[in-house]
Amino acid sequence: MATLPVIKLLLTLIALLSASRSVNCFDFSFSDFQQDDRKDLLLSNDSISNIFRDALQITPDLNGDIRNTSGRAYYGKKFRLWSKKKGTATFNTTFVINISNKDSPDVGEGLAFILSADSDVPIDSHGQWLGIVNSTTNGTTQASVVGVEFDTRKSYEEDLDDNHVGLDINSCYSTLQESLSNYGVNLSIGEDVKVNVQYDGQNMSVFVSKVNETANLVFSVALNLQELLPENVFVGFSASTGNFTQLNCIRAWDFNGEDVGDENSNLLWVWILVPVVSLALLSGIGFYLYWSRKSKKYDLEGAYPNIEDHIKSTTAPRRFKLRELRNATGNFNHKNKLGKGGFGTVYKGVWKEKEIAVKRVSKKSNQGNQEFIAEVTTIGNLNHKNLVKLVGWCYENRELLLVYEFMPHGSLDKYIFYNDKASQDEPSQPTLRWETRLMIIQGVAEALDYLHNGSDKRVLHRDIKSSNIMLDSEFNARLGDFGLARTIQQREKTHHSTIEIAGTPGYMAPETFLISRATVETDVYSYGILVLEVICGRKPGNQSELNNYNNSIVNWLWEFYRKGKITEAVDSKLDGEFNEKEVESALILGLACCHPNPHYRPSMKTVLAVLTGEADPPQVPQQRPSFVWPAMPPVFSQSDYSLTGSQFTTFSEISAR
Ligand SMILES: *[C@@H]1O[C@H](CO)[C@@H](O)[C@H](O)[C@H]1NC(C)=O
Ligand SMILES: *[C@@H]1O[C@H](CO)[C@@H](O)[C@H](O)[C@H]1NC(C)=O
Ligand SMILES: *[C@@H]1O[C@H](CO)[C@@H](O)[C@H](O)[C@H]1NC(C)=O
Ligand SMILES: *[C@@H]1O[C@H](CO)[C@@H](O)[C@H](O)[C@H]1NC(C)=O
Ligand SMILES: *[C@@H]1O[C@H](CO)[C@@H](O)[C@H](O)[C@H]1NC(C)=O
Ligand SMILES: *[C@@H]1O[C@H](CO)[C@@H](O)[C@H](O)[C@H]1NC(C)=O
Ligand SMILES: *[C@@H]1O[C@H](CO)[C@@H](O)[C@H](O)[C@H]1NC(C)=O
Ligand SMILES: *[C@@H]1O[C@H](CO)[C@@H](O)[C@H](O)[C@H]1NC(C)=O
Ligand SMILES: *[C@@H]1O[C@H](CO)[C@@H](O)[C@H](O)[C@H]1NC(C)=O
Ligand SMILES: *[C@@H]1O[C@H](CO)[C@@H](O)[C@H](O)[C@H]1NC(C)=O
Repeated sequence: MATLPVIKLLLTLIALLSASRSVNCFDFSFSDFQQDDRKDLLLSNDSISNIFRDALQITPDLNGDIRNTSGRAYYGKKFRLWSKKKGTATFNTTFVINISNKDSPDVGEGLAFILSADSDVPIDSHGQWLGIVNSTTNGTTQASVVGVEFDTRKSYEEDLDDNHVGLDINSCYSTLQESLSNYGVNLSIGEDVKVNVQYDGQNMSVFVSKVNETANLVFSVALNLQELLPENVFVGFSASTGNFTQLNCIRAWDFNGEDVGDENSNLLWVWILVPVVSLALLSGIGFYLYWSRKSKKYDLEGAYPNIEDHIKSTTAPRRFKLRELRNATGNFNHKNKLGKGGFGTVYKGVWKEKEIAVKRVSKKSNQGNQEFIAEVTTIGNLNHKNLVKLVGWCYENRELLLVYEFMPHGSLDKYIFYNDKASQDEPSQPTLRWETRLMIIQGVAEALDYLHNGSDKRVLHRDIKSSNIMLDSEFNARLGDFGLARTIQQREKTHHSTIEIAGTPGYMAPETFLISRATVETDVYSYGILVLEVICGRKPGNQSELNNYNNSIVNWLWEFYRKGKITEAVDSKLDGEFNEKEVESALILGLACCHPNPHYRPSMKTVLAVLTGEADPPQVPQQRPSFVWPAMPPVFSQSDYSLTGSQFTTFSEISAR
């Protein structure tokens, strides 16, 4: 059955091969850049130049310091620029550049389209050198590079202005410059600029315009590339930043080049090739089928060949060197220890004058490679004011490390349970006022809503509890410790241990034990427990008992609610200083989130509406409903049902929506 398409393919191939003997070309086209395109590109250093946001970023769009960097990105195959037999090749290339400054008001340095003998970026080619040359190679034939520069900074006397295009031959001092201000184009304002470079074997012409406008010829100059460059060259881009920075990116790139290679243009070649190709094709199909089945299995088992390759190929935060993190934390000095958990130890550190928290994943823990990758790549991309930001990661000497923003006020549990701790050594923490507590539960709700509904991928936190809520300098809540709950579940699956089933006892929805997986609704349940403990200043329940549903804060509070005096449950440390109506509505909301039937729990959207006073809390029965499984969806339409019902999904972890 599968042979018919193959035969068709072969016929097309033969047709193509015969045709290609008359018109040879070196063509490629990227209408945008996706991770997939990396295999067709050659990146000088992929922690500097890489694909992000559908564009080829020559100097990075990463977290962290991007000053004084230079990078290059090329098409993966060399272009035959000239041959003795056929002379110089012609080419016509169009690309769209977008240069924007990230934060700084000042921009630097620039970007260039280059033809280069060498794929490496010269050492110390940042700043004015544009990644083209450095102080040693500038002006020498050793550089062996020809470029069209788009300069956004007047770096030295001879530079025309901060918005020009120039022709660079083995030097960043242009032999020819033209200001783009004459053509209505401002390079550094983050606007797409279309550039077309044509070379007809004698003259090089450069056209520049805004994307949808007619191209302006900026210059045309006679140029003998055969004298300047070797026969085979890399084509691509270089860029640099200096004291001032910008994001230098290419959003699209199209290249049509003539192939002047010495071809053995006889039919024999075709006849040898066709059988070889067809054999390769057939075995390729077989192998593909085999592989595609097999790889599915691999994914489940989490067998990644190499952590680095996997993380590098995605939009990831900064990669740290182990040495940097050792320096930052005083070689993981115990004095810098912030806390210790099942997954490792967290240290405080200082990096580039900024405070950071470094989690050193314990080698004994089962936070395996796959979870580490998941945390770095998925969580690293999340960005919300109520999430602890992942600054970077490190994998060296088999050490897995995660770097987060430092949270000056530590975790929330210390503030709400301090009286419960008999220990006198703990410095006493101030009591959080009602307004602060409300702000905290609101912040966590916003973070969860973002995780569930706001980002490209739906993320379940799985381990919401007060010790995973961090407080920043203004006591805003920041949800932290991602991927851990997910990890526990992974571990649970393989170890058949029930002690560490996803989540923390006391915070887990009753159905968790039956469905053995996390859902949006189990996250909402844990959130409900958090709300109750923050308002009541009481621990969620007997933490040593696993299924402590009957012994929980939920039961305890429901009793108050049944008796019609729910506000009496409020933390006595508040000394009655709170808005009764707000507290009552928040407590009822907390109970609604902890409804034994997951179908009745509100969505995080509804939670937010209640907390901001835009909606009343959902109806909650006076008597605590008993837990029945399987849980039935509500029979009569209930105000929040449309939200909850549609939400009751079965994905178990991070899943694309
Ligand atoms: C790539 O760039 C990073 C970031 O600047 C640097 O730390 C690393 O050493 C570079 N790698 C190579 C092979 O030059
Ligand atoms: C960047 O490099 C220049 C020299 O090229 C140096 O003067 C400057 O201090 C460096 N800036 C940073 C932030 O490293
Ligand atoms: C080069 O490409 C541009 C854009 O595709 C096109 O308009 C132009 O005619 C081409 N020039 C030549 C000489 O083929
Ligand atoms: C300039 O680059 C070349 C080639 O990468 C290198 O050999 C040379 O040491 C560099 N010069 C400086 C000053 O870094
Ligand atoms: C770089 O090379 C050019 C010649 O191409 C020369 O005019 C210029 O002075 C050189 N710049 C430096 C800083 O060496
Ligand atoms: C380009 O835009 C920037 C930012 O708006 C501005 O500072 C600069 O003067 C502009 N340059 C030209 C040449 O118009
Ligand atoms: C140019 O890039 C910047 C930063 O990546 C982005 O904000 C902006 O939307 C881009 N411009 C266009 C026209 O896409
Ligand atoms: C190159 O430019 C020169 C001068 O502008 C012109 O005389 C010549 O015809 C051009 N060559 C080609 C192949 O267009
Ligand atoms: C350019 O034109 C296309 C198609 O007409 C349009 O989708 C796009 O938004 C335009 N871009 C700009 C920057 O005007
Ligand atoms: C970069 O800034 C440093 C001081 O921070 C200064 O010494 C140096 O001259 C600057 N370099 C350039 C190229 O502006």
